[in-house]
Amino acid sequence: MSLFDEQPPLIDSKVLLQWLKSNYSIFNTKDIKIKSLNSERDKNFLIKGVRGKYYVVKISHPSESIKQLTYQDHLIKYLRSNLSLAKIYPKICHKNILFYNDLNQRKCAVRILTFIDGQMYAKSKITDEIEISFGKFLGLQTNQLKNFIHKESIRNFIWNPENIQWINDYLYLFKGERKKIIKNAIFYNKYFVQKNIKNLRYSVTHGDPNDYNIVIDEKSVKGFIDFGDSLYAPVINDLAIALSYALMRSDNLYKTLQNLIGAFNNNYSLSTEEIYSLLGLIKSRLALTLVMSAKQKFKYPENDYLSISEKNAWHLINQLDQVDPYFFIAVVRNICGFEAIKNSNKIISLLKNYKFGELFDIELSNVNKKIVNFDKKSLLLKSNPSNKKLNSLVDKFLDNNVGIGLYKEKRKVYKSDHYISSLNKLERRDIHLGIDIFISKNTPLRAPLDGKVIILYNNNFKYDYGPTVVLEHYINKLKFYTLYGHLSKKCLTKMKIGQKIKKGEWIGEIGGYEVNGNWPPHLHFQIMLSLLNETNNFPGVGEEYLLPVWQHISPDPNIILNLPKTFFENKYNKEKILLKRKSNIGKNLSISYEEPLHMLEARDQYFFDENGRKYLDCVNNISHVGHSNLEVHDALVSQNLKLNTNTRYLYQIINEYSEKLLKTFPKKLNKIFFVCTGSEANDLALRIAKNYTKANHVLVIDNAYHGHTNSLIDLSPYKFKGKGGEGKKKYVHVLRMPDEIRGKWTKKNSKWIESYIDEAKKLINNNFNKKKLLSSFFFESILGCGGQVVLPKKYIKEICKLIRKQNALCIADEVQTGFGRVGEKFWAFEEQGIIPDIVTLGKPMGNGHPIAAVVTTEKIADSFNNGMEYFNSFGGNPVSCAVGNAVLDVIENKNLQQNAKIVGNYFIKKLNKLKQEFPNFISKISGRGLFIGIDLISDGEWDKPNRKLATKLINKLRNKGILLSIDGPFNNVIKIKPPLVFTKENTNQVCLEIRSFLINENKK
Ligand SMILES: Cc1ncc(COP(=O)(O)O)c(C=O)c1O
Repeated sequence: MSLFDEQPPLIDSKVLLQWLKSNYSIFNTKDIKIKSLNSERDKNFLIKGVRGKYYVVKISHPSESIKQLTYQDHLIKYLRSNLSLAKIYPKICHKNILFYNDLNQRKCAVRILTFIDGQMYAKSKITDEIEISFGKFLGLQTNQLKNFIHKESIRNFIWNPENIQWINDYLYLFKGERKKIIKNAIFYNKYFVQKNIKNLRYSVTHGDPNDYNIVIDEKSVKGFIDFGDSLYAPVINDLAIALSYALMRSDNLYKTLQNLIGAFNNNYSLSTEEIYSLLGLIKSRLALTLVMSAKQKFKYPENDYLSISEKNAWHLINQLDQVDPYFFIAVVRNICGFEAIKNSNKIISLLKNYKFGELFDIELSNVNKKIVNFDKKSLLLKSNPSNKKLNSLVDKFLDNNVGIGLYKEKRKVYKSDHYISSLNKLERRDIHLGIDIFISKNTPLRAPLDGKVIILYNNNFKYDYGPTVVLEHYINKLKFYTLYGHLSKKCLTKMKIGQKIKKGEWIGEIGGYEVNGNWPPHLHFQIMLSLLNETNNFPGVGEEYLLPVWQHISPDPNIILNLPKTFFENKYNKEKILLKRKSNIGKNLSISYEEPLHMLEARDQYFFDENGRKYLDCVNNISHVGHSNLEVHDALVSQNLKLNTNTRYLYQIINEYSEKLLKTFPKKLNKIFFVCTGSEANDLALRIAKNYTKANHVLVIDNAYHGHTNSLIDLSPYKFKGKGGEGKKKYVHVLRMPDEIRGKWTKKNSKWIESYIDEAKKLINNNFNKKKLLSSFFFESILGCGGQVVLPKKYIKEICKLIRKQNALCIADEVQTGFGRVGEKFWAFEEQGIIPDIVTLGKPMGNGHPIAAVVTTEKIADSFNNGMEYFNSFGGNPVSCAVGNAVLDVIENKNLQQNAKIVGNYFIKKLNKLKQEFPNFISKISGRGLFIGIDLISDGEWDKPNRKLATKLINKLRNKGILLSIDGPFNNVIKIKPPLVFTKENTNQVCLEIRSFLINENKK
């Protein structure tokens, strides 16, 4: 007969009292009081003994083994040996175990323990604090037990949830839904516990931390009692058993899980394998309660304790059956500080570096996009429109733009009971886990990477996904999934489960309102790192309070879409920005294009505007090594966090940078003065030249631009001759620009270069004398504002000879053309076969950071040391030097000079082909490397500049996502000077668009 088939001890309390008095001195008092306590199979009494102290007298079941009881005493003593735990266990007050004969004359063992005063967990209001304290003590106890072993603990025990397969024999006790629930628990036990059993840690366990064995006060756990179920079992059993009771008493399952498991795990770290089995064990324990209760309640109807938990157990097991088991595991993993999904961080970082294909035939980054909000502030849902009405509202709102519905948006639309959170009935699943892309019905959809069709199903409930495709993918042997919802039915017939799909292959098309779950046509696109327990569908929304878990299960799909982050973050409106700018900033700052661009970010050779649209940057030569370059950024930040000061202190980085920079120059040019802008560099160069030559007059080339300061406006015909200019100053002398198309002498003249040289010779020889001394000749090695005019080689060489004869200095302005842009050489002057006396640098030098310089010879630099200090607050500061240094490194490491040469030559070749195709529009392709000009003409007359066409072209190409600018004295030259990371593909794109523009123009 087992313990459960024989009745508990039958006791007459008066008789017992007498017996106790005569056997134990602690009960030898007149004041003795006795009260019966609940027990399943023993008989326990609370007895007030001497000095008013309370004790628990445990009269064991007659069939209880004495060895077992001795073991329990032993166990309690061991647990009490841990000082931080001692107070929560009763003290053993008997020396030896005595026997008492019950009313049926059965021998029952008697043990006396101190009474732990407090309330039963089962009878109290449970707070977070109490749950946390419960978890903590349970964890500490588990930790203490790991070093305890006793042979009596090794036994089979009916309440052990480790293996409940035996309850299959009792399924006949249940019917209908309840039978299903018990069967399900048996399945869970088999699948999640039995199959994982080898991976679970074992030790002696308490075996029954149920809510009648836990004593508490208002704040915390005061005692663990009843070690009668203690056995050697999976360590995690105690936590599972504790949870199966604590959850029954909780309105918020998640909170209880978090409190109990969190605190347990802080004191005894769970393994992922244990977490895997936890829900199975909780359900197993609940099923045991239900089976035992069904079995026992007929036999011992008077013992309420036996069925005490039944109602609550049904309720809880039912609730837990609504929770996806893998989701539960993810939640617990998260509570315990593991990634909610194994390897999720690894997969996410692999995905971040993967090159995905486009979802549609259009490139999402090439179109204007608008954010479609469905949150509580959504204007589209304002008056609670029906889904049909929403359809037309969204359509109107988008106005042919592509709509983007946000990941992690808290949405107002998920109202039915279906969206109530399974772990907390007061919360809903209303956080969107995918990205929606609102795009026309029937738009074909393509796989962004290789995969296999794993779900192909019509989830055709109203507001569900409608036809849905889920693909399974592998990346470095790690599995993940992508989901495509709201499709048309075509995918269901055209594909098969298990079908392999290649990147770019058709996987469906956007469904219309009638078939897609009654939504405006759009794609719900989601990534899943686990399919959880789903087979046909997958949650598209999750709970806000569980977002840290959901983010691991379904990370941001933008990892694949790669839309710029700033598009999602932008709060500013272009028109307002423009108005504000006009009200605050001087009006003579120009804004490019008829339709100004509001840029939010840039990377490499691309800009991204407020519509999340990508623009190919062919203009910004300042972002020389690419926009937002990380190496340059890191160098700036790390130096800025260490030291930023002026050149009056010593620091190493200025030397490191100077040495590296000077290596790019001919040996003779070996001294640097650092400044902040190109204008400052030219102004300082002028000062140095004047000081060195003691002369005042300056020679420049027509249409040159050297800077915006007073002195440099004087030296820039591009400015002083133009609107608002004050004309040429007397000390300035202008050489005619050797223009092979519209100059006084053109290519048509056989000796056109010589003619320019001769004219220059006359000007130089005739103009200057002892009273009118020439200080310097400023020249851009390629004239940018002049219209990307490459100066004929012989020309500069000859002019420099003449200048030197005047004891004046040759100053090469490399502000635009330097740092490898011209491809063949690092500096454009090198192509002229001369060594200037001074070179000025700027623009690309800091990739956007204001750093510029004057480089000259030792002799000239020394002459400038004339007693007056050269001080520049910012020039040459450590941060600027670190930035400049990093720019040089990137140019070298990425071989950007070579890239400028290869891509530049390719570009020029392709543009020359266009010139041949459209001789009526293009007269000349000029430039070197990635510093190129396209001279546009009218009526096929090669010298008739076509400013209108140039303006039209840059505006049309802007709308196609390509940024170009115009320059030249007639504003007819398309200027191309992109970041040096520009590629041949970029070149092809530009040429393709220019060509289709010109074909169109030809039609007119
Ligand atoms: C050839 C040349 N020199 C000097 C400058 C002036 O540089 P910054 O604008 O940095 O003062 C420019 C600017 O466009 C330039 O193109």
